Amino acid sequence: MKIAVLASEGAPYAKSGGLGDVMEALPAALARIPGNEVVLILPYYKKIKENPAYETEQVAQFNVALGWRQQYAGIHALKNRTDGVRVYFIDNLYYFAGRDGVLYGHGDDGERYAYFSKACLDALVALDFIPDVIQCNDWQTAPVPTFLKAQYKPLFPHTKCMFTIHNIEYQGWAQSDFFDDVLALPWEYRGCLDMDGAVNVMKAAIETCDLVTTVSESYARELMYPYYAHGLDGVIGNAAWKLTGITNGIDTDIFNPETDPALPAHYNADTLAAGKAACKAALQQEVGLPVRPDVPLMVMVTRLAGHKGLDLLCHIARRLLWENDCQLLILGTGEHHYEQFFTDLAREFPDQAAAKITFNLGLASRIYAGGDIYLMPSKSEPCGLSQMNAMRYGTVPVVHATGGLKDTVPPVDENGQGGLGFTFQSYNADDFYGALKRCLDLYTDHPQAFRDLQCTDMRQDFSWNIPAGRYMTLFHQMLDR
Ligand code: GLC
Repeated sequence: MKIAVLASEGAPYAKSGGLGDVMEALPAALARIPGNEVVLILPYYKKIKENPAYETEQVAQFNVALGWRQQYAGIHALKNRTDGVRVYFIDNLYYFAGRDGVLYGHGDDGERYAYFSKACLDALVALDFIPDVIQCNDWQTAPVPTFLKAQYKPLFPHTKCMFTIHNIEYQGWAQSDFFDDVLALPWEYRGCLDMDGAVNVMKAAIETCDLVTTVSESYARELMYPYYAHGLDGVIGNAAWKLTGITNGIDTDIFNPETDPALPAHYNADTLAAGKAACKAALQQEVGLPVRPDVPLMVMVTRLAGHKGLDLLCHIARRLLWENDCQLLILGTGEHHYEQFFTDLAREFPDQAAAKITFNLGLASRIYAGGDIYLMPSKSEPCGLSQMNAMRYGTVPVVHATGGLKDTVPPVDENGQGGLGFTFQSYNADDFYGALKRCLDLYTDHPQAFRDLQCTDMRQDFSWNIPAGRYMTLFHQMLDR
């Protein structure tokens, strides 16, 4: 099958969050399936273009018509990828390669990604790669199914399009004149792009694509409710017949405690005790906490954003540290008030709390390995990957039972049996504290049961093999329709 995966980010080239990780592993997993040809198209961001590790060759160039604009696109093929995925970058100085800093948030993102969406379709034509299936992701590539249906059908007569929602919070809203000025679609598409008198590209994608997926089964169900759907519950409800949840995997080659080059010691489920003890001691030392093997070390690697459940943690943090002999370590950047809170907390409890307000992948790995307990109280979580990373490294998760957290962390009882981690049902600080307390008690009072749970977590298969197979089943369903 010929598959084109289109996305605004993909590790290792450019990544701002979980989407980038998925775009690293999913295309590779699809390419491992015999008979598949997989193309991945990404924007040529400045930091990719300037990185000598990514050697490319320009294979096509053309202009993209975007309303009244004619915008250049250069197609650069990556030369040194060895896993069978053909990677192409779309080069445009004005929209991507000439801009510094963050991937998103430039004020004209709507136009930048409408351009990218259209350029991807033009690139597939220029490359003479007319796919059976296009898989596109989140609001940035949400214009693709609508462009495909409205303007590219003759060039892609049999191509089916899957739209995947990684996070419905960001929908690609624009003012109503965006429809004519940038998208320049035929008037009969005005209705599907319209939402409350403005333009919403994610809404249009849900309506015009052949299948909608999201990144966990529970999140697919949650999207029917206003609380989770951020205004799109009605649109999702109408599209329910074509909506499926496929829980993400993680790249188990990259996230592997036996080989991860960032770790001071390596281990697997059989050698967990010694390996993790070494990683924990090194981590405590690295972040300036007392090196104590017996004290439970709670960790979190996260964007410091509200929906990650940080308000719950802030609410109970002092009580948690006063009442329990435990340590807490946070790594991440984000909203200023959270950065300030955790910095203050670390100052107030120097023997118990540490905050690293930075983005550091190596340290993130050392935290997954050196921690005992991983906190993820997200308010909502489409899938979440770090709880799986944590389990892969034998760190027991304590999570809010929502979205992908619910699907990947079945709850244990107070003896640590029957599941993979500790969960709480309602989004409430006391309930979070209760779950944490049960976990801390298991750690302290039943060390063998805690160790067994760590081993069970490490032995789970979180690889992409199963989800990639499910994507294939849906691709076939679309083609058979
Ligand atoms: C988004 C979601 C996260 C998910 C990731 C990859 O970042 O917020 O829950 O794991 O996409 O699908």
